[in-house]
Amino acid sequence: MTITEKVVETQNGFKPGLEGVVAAETRLSHVDGQKGELLIGGYPLAELASDVTFEETVLLLWHGALPNQQELAAFRQQVATLRTLPTAIVDLLAAAAQQRIPTMTALRMAAGTLDLDSDPREEKETQAARLLARLPTIVATYWRLLHGQAPIAPDSALDHAANYLYMLTGERPTQAQVRGLETYLNTVVDHGLNASTFAARVIIATDTDLTSALVGALGALKGPLHGGAPGPALDMVFEIGEAVRADAYLRAKLERGERLMGFGHRVYKVRDPRAEVLSQAAEQMFRAGGGDMALYTLVKTVEQTAVALLAEYKPGRNLQTNVEFYTALLLHGLGLDTDLFTPTFAISRAAGWLAHCFEQQATGRLIRPQSRYVGPIRHR
Ligand code: ACO
Repeated sequence: MTITEKVVETQNGFKPGLEGVVAAETRLSHVDGQKGELLIGGYPLAELASDVTFEETVLLLWHGALPNQQELAAFRQQVATLRTLPTAIVDLLAAAAQQRIPTMTALRMAAGTLDLDSDPREEKETQAARLLARLPTIVATYWRLLHGQAPIAPDSALDHAANYLYMLTGERPTQAQVRGLETYLNTVVDHGLNASTFAARVIIATDTDLTSALVGALGALKGPLHGGAPGPALDMVFEIGEAVRADAYLRAKLERGERLMGFGHRVYKVRDPRAEVLSQAAEQMFRAGGGDMALYTLVKTVEQTAVALLAEYKPGRNLQTNVEFYTALLLHGLGLDTDLFTPTFAISRAAGWLAHCFEQQATGRLIRPQSRYVGPIRHR
């Protein structure tokens, strides 16, 4: 083949947004958008998410199997002892809080400093555990500084999810709250080759360090087209206010050509399996915790009305509830402000990014696609 023929072949293969391009092989998760199935470490999401702790899910992804009691106990202890931030990072967060920098930006900035007290000769899994352990501390510390409150030191007696809620509020969360958050963290931990995961794999494939991959992935997740625009689904529910207003409100939106937030998905053409798991988790948490059941009922009505109206206004599009819809309800029910939704997503997805880094490192292959030149040829 001549060089000219090769160039023509590449040009024809151009896929904007890499849609449909398989760029990695993974054992971590599998998304079937037609059937509405999501496998995490080989398990259907519904069989895993509400039964195991977040630490167990992390080990499933990092080691390829759920841990036994001993392995789990050792990992819980390791994570619990790695949570405290060096003073210099807390000082940086205090300076960021004075500037009122968005929480996701502060998290991305502080994550880049996490090598401050680490030893590059450490095993990569210890490095990964340190990064994972410290993200909730960064978010909770920053959140409290931003609101004029003193940071709360991590409690090594608490697991990852419980300790995050404790560091945010200063109160021990209930069993139901911890279960609700663990189910959320397990649900969004990995999702095929999404933008931030791909970013992490591209970065680690250059044989750089885990912190660099984590920071790149956080930067990608922060964007509004990925994880950075949370909350509008819940805003819509609050604007509707009462179940009797749902039909007229949603109809008017669709008549104006607007999109209903929390519905539709690029990959899922049936109900997003994560929406199902999170809807059940929210119901259990609201019932057990004496939460706002009126809000839960309103959300259910809005969902049913929206799905019916989308079928009427956009026939054949299969627009169903997506993960965003029930994420908003669950995290709101946990008392988290909307600005904490994306950082909380990052706290979970980081475990997936790090697992993808291990997988990518094992291939030893640099990711280096081609571009198609569409500019002019100039001479001077
Ligand atoms: N409300 C109303 N109409 C919709 C919606 C919606 N939520 N979603 C898609 N449509 C319509 C589009 O207007 C379009 O109609 P048309 O062909 O008559 O113009 C048709 O369905 C196809 O839309 P696309 O944009 O091509 O669908 P795509 O698969 O690219 O969109 C997306 C996916 C961006 C999530 C879209 O469904 C959307 O904007 N949803 C609302 C925002 C939202 O919920 N975002 C969170 C997504 S969850 C996640 O990604 C983690």
